[in-house]
Amino acid sequence: MCSKLIKSSFSMLVLVISISIIRNNYTYAQDIENNSVKCLQKLADSTINMLVATRSVIAKNQDLINIDPVTGNYYFKGFVPALVGSEIANDFSLMTGYKLKQTSLKLRNLNNRPDEWEKKILNKFELPKYPKGTGLGEILETDGKKIYRYMKPIYVEKACLKCHTSKDKTRPEIRKFLERKYPYDQAFGYKEGDVRGGISIIVSLEN
Ligand code: HEC
Repeated sequence: MCSKLIKSSFSMLVLVISISIIRNNYTYAQDIENNSVKCLQKLADSTINMLVATRSVIAKNQDLINIDPVTGNYYFKGFVPALVGSEIANDFSLMTGYKLKQTSLKLRNLNNRPDEWEKKILNKFELPKYPKGTGLGEILETDGKKIYRYMKPIYVEKACLKCHTSKDKTRPEIRKFLERKYPYDQAFGYKEGDVRGGISIIVSLEN
């Protein structure tokens, strides 16, 4: 009788200890996963900030780029933030494997069109109550491979209006350039502070 009791108490104790170990391991594993996601988010967010800052410098310096310092003549060269951004994104992708993309729901260049995931996030950025400047990200699996995707909204600054305000307020040299190069352009008519689109990044989690 007594030995039976000891046996069952011992089994109970083993069960309780096992459950507690499993639970601890589970929360530990969850902590690691939460921390990794936080690290990924930080990496993605600062990478995008760097690209946003570079693009902003190009936008603010359009006159420096397009006005001949000797004659003062204006010659629009088409060295615009998005093109510089694409070139930087390509070089950066070769160096790091991270894929950066500038996209929008209202496109100037159709090659920048968003994929389904980006479209879903861009629609959230457009909501009136969406917290300004906040990015969204998640771990996904595509073709059996794990990736981290993250996107941040980009907003229209004063310097962007040179090329994204209404057509009639756009310098004729720029307007003609845009009309010739982008026949399906939807990216006129913005005002300062509008969501212009987003910059997205894909980080492979395979290595
Ligand atoms: C000097 C003209 C010019 C200025 C200034 C400018 N853009 Fe653009 N923007 C363009 C052109 C041209 C394209 C298409 C580039 C391409 O072919 O990929 C474009 C494309 C984009 C795209 C990619 C999506 C699309 O519609 O194809 C985004 C996003 C964008 N611009 C945001 C901005 C923001 C934000 C600013 C200000 C920081 C800005 N632009 C300033 C001319 C300009």
